[in-house]
Amino acid sequence: MKRPIVELWGTGCYTPQRAMTNEEFSKRLDTSDQWIVERTGIRERRVAEPNESNACMAKAAAEQLLRRNGLAPSDLDTIILATCSPDRLLPSQACDLQAILGAKSAAAFDVGAACTGFLYGLSVAEGLIAAEQAKTILVVASEKLTSIMDWTDRATAVLFGDGAGATIVRRSTNGRGILASYMRSDGTLAELLYRPGGGGTHPPDEALLKDHSYYIKMAGREVFKAAVLSMADACDHALERAGLVAADIDLLIPHQANTRIIEATAKHAGLPMDKVYVNVDRFGNTSAASIPIALDEAVQCGRLVPGMKLLFVAFGAGFTWASMVVQW
Ligand code: COA
Repeated sequence: MKRPIVELWGTGCYTPQRAMTNEEFSKRLDTSDQWIVERTGIRERRVAEPNESNACMAKAAAEQLLRRNGLAPSDLDTIILATCSPDRLLPSQACDLQAILGAKSAAAFDVGAACTGFLYGLSVAEGLIAAEQAKTILVVASEKLTSIMDWTDRATAVLFGDGAGATIVRRSTNGRGILASYMRSDGTLAELLYRPGGGGTHPPDEALLKDHSYYIKMAGREVFKAAVLSMADACDHALERAGLVAADIDLLIPHQANTRIIEATAKHAGLPMDKVYVNVDRFGNTSAASIPIALDEAVQCGRLVPGMKLLFVAFGAGFTWASMVVQW
């Protein structure tokens, strides 16, 4: 088994106070709690207040993590932020976080890989440390998806939620850390899950507000099928690269989009559901933030303890998909 170059040092997370139930959607859209629970497993999601920005949530997750590790913001030399719902398009969300966190010594940049962004971010951090370009990297994923979803579209509005999660990546000194990782993409399928308007090809105008093309559009069934296939592929590759089999894995933390996708992924990987961490019922799909929020919960509730082997797997817009085996 490969000796890890980097470890994930501690966790932190933040989710908004306001929990929105499926019943609230059924009052404004043609949907029901029963439909949403049966098709997605989601019961409620957290919704940020209008003045609660992506940067605020990222800061809260980062500060909790830094406090737990006894670090100051000035100890960070790099901030990598994964998001697809930034507060503004320029500059990066990471630079806004760097400013409000007061991380004066840190380089800062975003990773744009949608729901796979946290795993992409961890891999980039591993590379920077291996190349001796950085020592203490904050990898944070933060999403305010409720600001880019179409509240009138029942096929997408019921799926998403807000929140942030974070970890520190540093050189491994004790055999703990990333054992293997795998990243892929297929941009030919981009238009199955995307935001058509608001960028250079369709700059903001009145038509854009009318046709809602500023918001997330998704071909749900096609995305579902691609997610199941891609996450299965990713689990196989990460295990193979780590020289491990399913029985070696103590906990699977998948991207939390839909319980049916999670169950299909676990089944393919040969892992029973009692080895799978699921919180999509309480948070919905928080895109890049879903894995670090689940990771933090798993650590805080004692489900994940040192010595365990962990498998992460994610899939998202792009399409992008990735996986990682970690010695915790
Ligand atoms: N409430 C009630 N009915 C709904 C609905 C809702 N919230 N959303 C869609 N429907 C309807 C559709 O309009 C359709 O009606 P029709 O048959 O009259 O046309 C019917 O349900 C079936 O739609 P379909 O999209 O085929 O349903 P599905 O079983 O595939 O479930 C999703 C829809 C979105 C839950 C599912 O496709 C999914 O989870 N896809 C992946 C989404 C995802 O994870 N995206 C992010 C990836 S990171």
